[in-house]
Amino acid sequence: MTYLRLMKYPGTKTTLLPEIRNILRNSNRHFLLDVFGGSGLVALNLHAKRIVYNDIEEELVNLFKVIQERPESLYQMLEALLKSAGENRSRLNKGFSGSFTRNEVTNTMQRGIPARKAEYKMPEARQFRRTDYRESSEGLSMEKRAYYTIYRFSTSFGGMGNTYATTNEKSTFRYISKTLDEFPRIAETVKKWKIENLDFRELIPRYDSRDAFFYLDPPYPGKGWYNHNFDAGDFEDIRTILESLKGKYLMNLNAEDTNLAQIFGKPTFVKRYINQNGGLNVESGSQRLKAFYTNVQRI
Ligand SMILES: C[S@@+](CC[C@H](N)C(=O)[O-])C[C@H]1O[C@@H](n2cnc3c(N)ncnc32)[C@H](O)[C@@H]1O
Repeated sequence: MTYLRLMKYPGTKTTLLPEIRNILRNSNRHFLLDVFGGSGLVALNLHAKRIVYNDIEEELVNLFKVIQERPESLYQMLEALLKSAGENRSRLNKGFSGSFTRNEVTNTMQRGIPARKAEYKMPEARQFRRTDYRESSEGLSMEKRAYYTIYRFSTSFGGMGNTYATTNEKSTFRYISKTLDEFPRIAETVKKWKIENLDFRELIPRYDSRDAFFYLDPPYPGKGWYNHNFDAGDFEDIRTILESLKGKYLMNLNAEDTNLAQIFGKPTFVKRYINQNGGLNVESGSQRLKAFYTNVQRI
């Protein structure tokens, strides 16, 4: 099954999507709130009449607002990036600069272009690779910030967003090429969303109702993957909110984390997933246990 994917992102939930979709369907709710929206993968691939995407990270919210309000400008920037990477490769490897058709550019990307070669023409991209990219986004237009957000996550190691792509990383730019292919469908979907930039403690009470279905995919404790990470107090706040929720919810956590099990108790169920591709600190073929906490009856 192919899904709409905008960019690489740490902790994204591709393998869990079929189960998340089943639970939403069983809930009989048509109003989805993706509380910790991240790359938007869940909101992009679940079908509901109303969708709210939320994340506390301003750069992600800026990205989805640009896709919603002016998708063409972002599309053109990404297309120019692929073209410029293809031209740089041509210049560096063949000694001439030719114009590329879209297919040639895509094929070139699929063979893997080092990120830094593509930056050859883009000094701002180098600047944006600094760890504190929020500081380096100052003074840039919304479109440029959106463009660099996709660029950073899609070309950095494991989707971490602030580490350099290695010069031989095969998948460099492959995501951007795929993103371009799927961009019209992504933009069509995002157009219907309501986009929020709130802390979960504010978002959930604001939207809680009997019609709502909250999907919760909070940051992994101790990983430090995001600009906003979680400690035990944040998880305790989630537990308190869920105890008196009017709507339905599904929360995914790492089932091997005993501290989380102490806060939330036994999960509704646990599923085992085999890692197909490897990735950030994850070996290919290794197994991961995912905990599902939900107040939806399993059918
Ligand atoms: C595990 S990721 C979500 C990944 C997402 N499900 C996906 O598939 O891409 C957790 C997200 O929570 C966001 N976040 C961290 N603290 C938050 C808070 N207090 N309120 C709302 N979002 C928060 C982070 O910015 C991060 O994008």
